[in-house]
Amino acid sequence: MKKILVTGAFGLVGSELVPALQKKYGQDSVILLSHNKTDNNFKGIIEKGDVSDISNLEGVIKKHNIGTIYHLAGLLSVGSEKNPQLAWQVNVGGLKNVLDLAVKYKNKVFWPSSIAAFGPTTPRHHTPQHTVLEPTTMYGVNKVTGELLCQYYFLKYGLDVRSLRYPGLNGWRAEPGDGTTEYAIHIFYGAIKEKKYSCFLSENTVLPMMYIDDAIEGTIKLMEAPADKISVRTSYNFAAVSFSPKELAEEIKKIDPEFVCIYAPDHRQKIADSWPTSIDDSQARKDWGWQHKFDLVGMTKALYDNIKRKLRK
Ligand code: SER
Repeated sequence: MKKILVTGAFGLVGSELVPALQKKYGQDSVILLSHNKTDNNFKGIIEKGDVSDISNLEGVIKKHNIGTIYHLAGLLSVGSEKNPQLAWQVNVGGLKNVLDLAVKYKNKVFWPSSIAAFGPTTPRHHTPQHTVLEPTTMYGVNKVTGELLCQYYFLKYGLDVRSLRYPGLNGWRAEPGDGTTEYAIHIFYGAIKEKKYSCFLSENTVLPMMYIDDAIEGTIKLMEAPADKISVRTSYNFAAVSFSPKELAEEIKKIDPEFVCIYAPDHRQKIADSWPTSIDDSQARKDWGWQHKFDLVGMTKALYDNIKRKLRK
């Protein structure tokens, strides 16, 4: 059987997708690619390499007889603002390398876009699937470019590339990365370690969010759907819940009444303000049966319990 390559294997999504794929397809069927990190908690075949280095990537694809690529490696919104040149190189250059090799080796590809593809001119509430894409962040510019590249490779070369516009994903296995929605993960570390958290977004900033288990299930479901069900080859709107920092803090307080959240918005507020508050994902629900399971209450409990258990180890 052909193998599965996961780039960015130890990131927020990779660290939860890899075990799910290993469980489904067998441990030796999944190859983990990472440019700098290894994690001793992970079992599996690990390769070191940077997605901007096409010859290294080609070597890994050939060596392991790769059939499917989950291309997750990339910089998030805040990291991309710190280093826009590197963001372009990794987020766009890395994707282009993956797409070119996927044409050559006939791979199927998953690549995540984001709510960051939207911008201040996009309708902010129940943002439609097909709408204005004029992002004002480098990360958003990378995502729109990537979406169009994916669709182009599908139309031009028949490449089976599929994509989701991830909302803020909240997981516990990996440390939270350099993103804007990531406050919703950091807050749990603050709550569990010190019973307090200083939030870098204002209390009423509503953003689309999702618990990681839903994201993993949706990602695998999209990749397993018959090709004729996939009507969107840029990237699907993909949603679960929307909430503000204040609503999340209230929910955490139900678990630990001593928890205190204060609000000190910084430069990241501007990024959040350019994104939608909620997403219309009816196309994904109609085309390939997307359904989320976790609401704010379920997500909060799962994150609190899992992060607490992880910190005890
Ligand atoms: N979590 C991402 C970020 O905030 C959104 O795609 O950068």
